[in-house]
Amino acid sequence: MKKTTLLLTSLVLVVGLASAAGKNTPQNLKVLKFKTINETKQYMKTVAKDLGVKCNYCHDVNNFADDSNQKKRIARSMLKMMTGLNNEFFTWKDARQIRCWTCHQGKSDPPKKK
Ligand code: HEC
Ligand code: HEC
Repeated sequence: MKKTTLLLTSLVLVVGLASAAGKNTPQNLKVLKFKTINETKQYMKTVAKDLGVKCNYCHDVNNFADDSNQKKRIARSMLKMMTGLNNEFFTWKDARQIRCWTCHQGKSDPPKKK
């Protein structure tokens, strides 16, 4: 009887830990390689700053994994473009990496040619 209780308790504990880990795992990253929500959020802060916007410009902040906002889908293709440019062209030693800032300079709509 005691053994069963112990077994059940540890089972509950294991399942509990697993779901806690699941909560900190990104569900819908198609370009970024972050393993945790925390790391993703840290990076996202730089993205928001580079565009001069808040998280809700791209996200329903109660459901960050959701893709229904078109701005988020555009941002994902921008991420893909940026990663591609960096990996393919900015590869020499100490090459500066392109960021959202490089084009956007703090604006969601990048500066236009005069
Ligand atoms: C300009 C648009 C944009 C802004 C602003 C932005 N995000 Fe994101 N966010 C994205 C995109 C695009 C992805 C998916 C990236 C991918 O597919 O690799 C993402 C993914 C995430 C995820 C992972 C969700 C999951 O489970 O897959 C989290 C968490 C997140 N963002 C949090 C934030 C927070 C917090 C902020 C504000 C500090 C923020 N984002 C601002 C575009 C944005
Ligand atoms: C090589 C330059 C360049 C880089 C790097 C770049 N963007 Fe863009 N982005 C643009 C241009 C140009 C536009 C405007 C396109 C238009 O107006 O038709 C744009 C538009 C957007 C839009 C749509 C804005 C709107 O008004 O609807 C989003 C969202 C966006 N970019 C997100 C990002 C994010 C996030 C990053 C970094 C991961 C990024 N961009 C990096 C050039 C760039």
